[in-house]
Amino acid sequence: MSGNSHSAGFVRVDREKATRRSLIERRKELAKEESQRTGRDADLPLIFGSSWGEHRPHNLRAPASVRPPVHRASSKTVGIALPFLAETGPAMDGAFIGPDLLSRGMFSWDPWIAKDARVIRSESMAIIGVKGSGKSMLAKSMATRLCRLHRRIAVPHDPNGEWTRVAEWVGGKTIRLGPGSRHRINFLDPGPRPSILSDDGWEYDVHQFQSQRLQAAVKILRQTTVLPEQEHTVIDLVLQAVRSRHTHVLIQQVYDELMNPTGEFADEIRRDGVGLQHTLRRIVRGDVAGMFDAPTSVGFDLDTPMVTVDTSMIEKASAEARALMRLATNDWIDRSTGASDQARMVIHEEAAVALLTEIASGSGLEQRAADEKVARHKRKSNVYLIHRIADLDALGDVGSALHSQALGLLADCETRVSYAQHPGELDRSAGVLGWNDTLRELVSKQTQGVGLWQIGQSKIAHIRNVVTPEEEAIFSTGGVQ
Ligand SMILES: Nc1ncnc2c1ncn2[C@@H]1O[C@H](COP(=O)(O)OP(=O)(O)O)[C@@H](O)[C@H]1O
Ligand SMILES: [Mg+2]
Repeated sequence: MSGNSHSAGFVRVDREKATRRSLIERRKELAKEESQRTGRDADLPLIFGSSWGEHRPHNLRAPASVRPPVHRASSKTVGIALPFLAETGPAMDGAFIGPDLLSRGMFSWDPWIAKDARVIRSESMAIIGVKGSGKSMLAKSMATRLCRLHRRIAVPHDPNGEWTRVAEWVGGKTIRLGPGSRHRINFLDPGPRPSILSDDGWEYDVHQFQSQRLQAAVKILRQTTVLPEQEHTVIDLVLQAVRSRHTHVLIQQVYDELMNPTGEFADEIRRDGVGLQHTLRRIVRGDVAGMFDAPTSVGFDLDTPMVTVDTSMIEKASAEARALMRLATNDWIDRSTGASDQARMVIHEEAAVALLTEIASGSGLEQRAADEKVARHKRKSNVYLIHRIADLDALGDVGSALHSQALGLLADCETRVSYAQHPGELDRSAGVLGWNDTLRELVSKQTQGVGLWQIGQSKIAHIRNVVTPEEEAIFSTGGVQ
């Protein structure tokens, strides 16, 4: 037996023996001093456990620690040598999410930091998983922790009212909309004027916006995607007449103008506007009355950490009322924040339903796809919570433009988090999200709160979202939602 390591081992053991011997000697001396002082025999126990533990099984001691030689390599090399076990990129800064079950490192996330580091090209995210898998829990813990890093959060549509406590907890604000609530959002409210727009530019923008809103409302109420040409013209003429008299346009005024046209195009409006009178009557007199036809009563405070819109009061209303509400709240947040370049995360609970509404309003998904492109410049991070890929498939026939737009939207989300999936849908998810067999296997075994993160082109993490007991009490939905 030769070699440095062995001789070093013997040296260490010898030194231990020597130390123990000297300790025994010292104990004896102490015992002697004690008996001299007290005049009695001192019987100090000489308890010295062996450094290797007692000679019995399970003695909770390891004979000698393994000390492999240190090997240094770049994280890229280690990532390739030990796939799934080593982090492949630098650790990310941001809000703490939880441990990575593959690399055992701690994982934090902030889409803006990741974008600045060129890990992703767009800040938007998709979180996909069955009900109760932990999507909202992740969105809430990520959002509240990002709030503390001075990011702003908006939830334009909270059908279960589960974000109200969350907003309150971080000093945010909740707007409750529905019959009986004192909060109102005017369906035709164009929001604040961006400072870059000239007077004419702003006039044009407001006119376009209001005309599109009226068209969308009519399409939703009639459940159609096309309007006759004459009605386009009537909407235009009516708006022109109302806008010449009022600064803040309400649907009620549009309706009154349709019923009793006063301007120079009164005859045209009277002749071609009969259908519109009947459709818009639902908003001012019918089942949807009172929700959208009053001036906006709430201001959007850009500095509030979190703004959520609780729409749980209208969950029992008609499908059209809910669709109008989605459109109104989404646009209200969009237009209120449009002029600011603050980093803002917009969380879309039940995103597939929101997309369906956009399709029902006649704008298809082009508007949403365009919004995604603009979002990159506006520092807006859309977070789409989706139950399953099949929900996106349902938006349009396979092979149709709408279908590819829906999947394209998912592709635009450079951060995809997959929570537990229905076993029957794993193959479809694997195909759309580009999983190999290993990733598919990983997702199939995921438990509540664990998600596979696919970040940018190549980064993969398997994260258990950690929440504190206090957070859990506030975020919990008390069941599946
Ligand atoms: N990371 C987690 N840690 C602890 N409990 C969790 C976690 N994720 C989910 N849960 C529990 O599961 C419930 C449902 O989770 P939630 O996020 O609301 O599901 P969904 O995917 O339907 O949005 C929560 O109320 C909570 O009790
Ligand atoms: Mg949820």
